Amino acid sequence: MLNLVLFGPPGAGKGTQSEKLIHKYNLVHLSTGDLLRSQIAAGTELGLRAKQLMDQGLLVPDEVVIGMIESKLRENQSAPGFIFDGFPRTVLQAEALDSLLSHYQTPITIMIALIVDDEELIRRLLKRGETSGRPDDKDETTARRRVSVYNKDTMPVADYYSQQGKFVGIDGIGTIDDIFLAICEKIDSQK
Ligand code: AP5
Repeated sequence: MLNLVLFGPPGAGKGTQSEKLIHKYNLVHLSTGDLLRSQIAAGTELGLRAKQLMDQGLLVPDEVVIGMIESKLRENQSAPGFIFDGFPRTVLQAEALDSLLSHYQTPITIMIALIVDDEELIRRLLKRGETSGRPDDKDETTARRRVSVYNKDTMPVADYYSQQGKFVGIDGIGTIDDIFLAICEKIDSQK
């Protein structure tokens, strides 16, 4: 069983690398951002409330995302492992994830953090905003707010995993294939 937290700021490449990792390691991809966007597309009440916060580059309340992850873990009990992408984003979410996984006796194996400087992140987000249609990518103020929320509220999650001896940092600047190989090397060395 491999349970991977793929960590990093907005635009670090978590979604891009998750797409490749799920095929190589046969994992279920749990992206809280994607789950929230599905709720928005379906026009649910949860989606409508989340959209107001997401469009401003702010975090959705912990209990909302923890509830979504809980139900996805229940639905996928026979999965060979998971990639958590964009979750946990607060220490409270990290503690909740450990508690949920303890019911299945499958703790987090490794946390891989993609390290990219703030100016490169803003460049990537604004470039993607030209074509993605994601409202939170469209203007520089919102992109910068997302990065600053990450630096303030999400960075402490790295210490949380570091204290458990599970934190591995990877340079997130370079070609997508080179970064993928570096991630795989770290995962394989844990097995
Ligand atoms: P979420 O959907 O998780 O977005 P994010 O973390 O801001 O991440 P992104 O999808 O923007 O970036 P990414 O790291 O996946 O990079 P990607 O591969 O796409 O969250 C959105 C919102 O939902 C949050 O702001 C919050 O409101 C809410 N939310 C979600 N989870 C939550 C939680 N747990 N708690 C509370 N609220 C939550 O790549 C980005 C771009 O860069 C792409 O165009 C890509 O092609 C390009 N790129 C990728 N790799 C490279 C490379 N090596 N070189 C050059 N370009 C590259």
